[in-house]
Parts: sequence; C-alpha cells; structure tokens
Amino acid sequence: MAQLDGTPARHYYAGFNPQRAIAIADLRAMAHKRLPRFALEYLEGGAEDEAAMFREQRAFADWRFMPKTLVDVSRRTLATDILGRSAAMPLVVSPTGLNGILHVHGDSLLAEAALRADVPFVQSTMSNDTMEEVARAAPGVRHWWQLYVFGGDEIWQELLRRADGAGCEALVLTTNAQIFGDREWQRRNQVGKSRLTVLAALESLTHPRWFAENPLSHGLPSFANIIDFVPKDQRSFFAASSWVRANQPTSLSWDTVAKIRQRWKKPFVLKGILCPDDVRRAVDSGVDGVVLSSHGGRQLDWTISPLDLLPVAREIVGDRIALYMSGGVRRGTDLLKACALGADAVWVGRAPLYGLSAAGAAGAARALEILKTEAENAVGLLGVNRVDELGPHLLAHQGRAA
Ligand SMILES: Cc1cc2nc3c(=O)[nH]c(=O)nc-3n(C[C@H](O)[C@H](O)[C@H](O)COP(=O)(O)O)c2cc1C
Repeated sequence: MAQLDGTPARHYYAGFNPQRAIAIADLRAMAHKRLPRFALEYLEGGAEDEAAMFREQRAFADWRFMPKTLVDVSRRTLATDILGRSAAMPLVVSPTGLNGILHVHGDSLLAEAALRADVPFVQSTMSNDTMEEVARAAPGVRHWWQLYVFGGDEIWQELLRRADGAGCEALVLTTNAQIFGDREWQRRNQVGKSRLTVLAALESLTHPRWFAENPLSHGLPSFANIIDFVPKDQRSFFAASSWVRANQPTSLSWDTVAKIRQRWKKPFVLKGILCPDDVRRAVDSGVDGVVLSSHGGRQLDWTISPLDLLPVAREIVGDRIALYMSGGVRRGTDLLKACALGADAVWVGRAPLYGLSAAGAAGAARALEILKTEAENAVGLLGVNRVDELGPHLLAHQGRAA
C-alpha cells in the first residue's frame, strides 16, 4: 500500500538477520526466500478464490484514525488483562498446525517467543511437538490448548486430560473447520492427498537451508500429540493429516460444546464464530470467550471479515465474556483498530509464522516485538495512554468523519 509505482525502487529486507526486519512485511519476504513453494502455499494460502483472506486484511484499511493531540502520553502502556491474568499487550499467538514444516520444533519456538513477549501461546491439535515438550521448552509460558474434535469422544477426553496435566490454562475449541476449506493453491503442489508432485519435491531442493535444517536432518515432522490415534498405515505426514480431516465429525454442535464445558473446568474459548446469533449462543453456552475468525480465510470463502463483525459482537457480549478477533493483523495499528472496535485482544497467525519461518525463535520473537513497538508508537500518536481508553470515537469509517 505504501509503495509508489516503482520509483524509487523499493525492496523489503530478505536477508538472514531478523533484527534487520523493520516490519512484518520484511519477515514475510525473508520467509518467502527460505521456504519451499509447497510450505509457503500452506502458510499463505486461503480457500478457493481467497476472497475471505483478502477481505480480512483489507478490512483494516476501511478505518481511519482521528487522533487526539496535546495529550500527555509519556506513561502509555499496552499492558492488559487476558482471561484474568496480565499480559504485555492485547495479543495472543493463535494456534497453527504443521509448524514443524516451517521450522523444526516450530511449536516450542513459538511458545518461547510468546513467553519472551509475555503473551499467551495457543498450541494446535495439529502441532508437531508434544504439549509436554512445549511446556518444558518454555517454562512459565501461558500455554493454551486448541482442540479439533475428531474420531470418538474418548479422543478429545484424553487430549483434555493431557492438556490439563501439561499445565494448559485454557482450552480453545475450533468450531469452523470440521469440513476443511479447499486451499487450492496448496493442493496444486500435491498429487492426491498423500504426496507432493515431483516438481514440488524438486523445487524444495532449491531451498538448501530449509532442506538441510528440516527434512534432511529431522525427516518430515509427525503429529506428535495425536499420532497414536491414527491407524498405523496412515501415519506418514501427509496421510495422517488427511486421515484426521476425514475423521472430524460433521455432527459437531452446541451439544458438543456443552459436553466439553462440563468436563473442562478451566477457561474455555470458542474460535471460529462469524455471525451475531452464534455470538449470542456462545454467551449463553457458558464459555469464557469467543474468537471471531474465518481461520485466516482458509475455511468458507467469501465470508465477512472478523473486524466487520466486531462492533455488533461487542454490543451483544457487553462485558459478560471475552471477545477476541483473529485475521489480517500485520501492523500495530491493526491491533489498535481491532481494540478500538471492541476486541479484548487480537490473535495473530501468519505474522509470527513469517518470523518463525525466517529465523526460528528469534524471528518469531522479532514479529511480536515489531507489532508491540508499532502499537506503542501508534497509541501515543493517537493520544491514548491505555488500551481501555481505545474506542470507536477514535475511528472514522473511510470517508466518513464523525
Ligand atoms: C498455516 C496456518 C495454520 C493454521 N492452523 C490452525 C489450527 O491448527 N487451528 C486453528 O484453530 N487455527 C488455525 N489457523 C488459523 C489461525 O489460528 C488464525 O486464526 C489465522 O491465521 C488468523 O489470520 P492471520 O494469519 O491473518 O493472522 C491456521 C492458520 C494458518 C495461516
């Protein structure tokens, strides 16, 4: 958006040192250089025409700030409360599966980055490090477990038992991925469900650093938390992920939410809500929070963006449960806009993944640092000292000043 038409020639930083990344866009350029095409399409892709994905990034551009000036902002802070505990900023590292394909031990490295940034980390059911490994790698991290329901009830019951034992302080049920969105660009690199095309496999050899640090030294990652539930002949990387997808019951419903609520006594959050009726229903179902999310535009295409729903959702929720949004956050100003429109925190997916792919834990930490620094600057420029002072009065919908 900030680019002029080719003059002067501008380039994002795409070297190896994450400290030289100025913005998330630089970490993205670094990730694009390091990752093979099939992994990059997995990271970047949305469903079908990617309309939902593009909308959720562009929705932020519809809102402009009306900053207050001559306000003493010398003591500004982003510190806030997330599910009853303090955090350095209103941000959660959102759950993402297959992190091990982007960087070996990606889950543990993201957790370490979250610990350093003093924000919660949500580990996906489709992660590659065990939850116990993550807990050991980042002792003290606010560790949450994201549940995909698959197979019979005994599987999610066992995962909840383990998550509790591993010290996870909250459970996140993803509600909008029982049928998998068709990420066509990712599929174009595969033959069927269980292997890469010859071209995609050969292309991965042209990324020697990624190749040497990942498949060559460690093989393809495994879905360490759930692999024992997968039939023995389906346990290879691609086959296992297809098997889980094929075994997610499409009968998942509010009854399942009630069953899980009964069993899990710690904070419980629903992720994947995108309509006002479901926000109402969630409040009544006894959960502690909802995440407005289209799964980064990877599920149903052509949805509204989570940001679009925020003001209405805040009206419904009041202060009864926590309200989060996830999708499209690439700037500190995005975070502030979401909070001003009613979010208690934003959940970020690709931003830390760009950092992880670019440079492991240091890259992921750099992504969170960039977002924090940008938000700290912007909040001051906006004439605000604390996150709870943010509100819709500071925003105008494009072209419509209040
Ligand atoms: C590569 C990738 C993998 C993801 N895997 C999961 C997952 O396992 N569970 C889940 O609830 N959401 C998953 N998501 C969705 C994210 O948690 C998050 O909602 C989304 O990425 C937000 O959009 P953003 O990437 O623009 O920040 C994934 C997203 C990406 C990009």
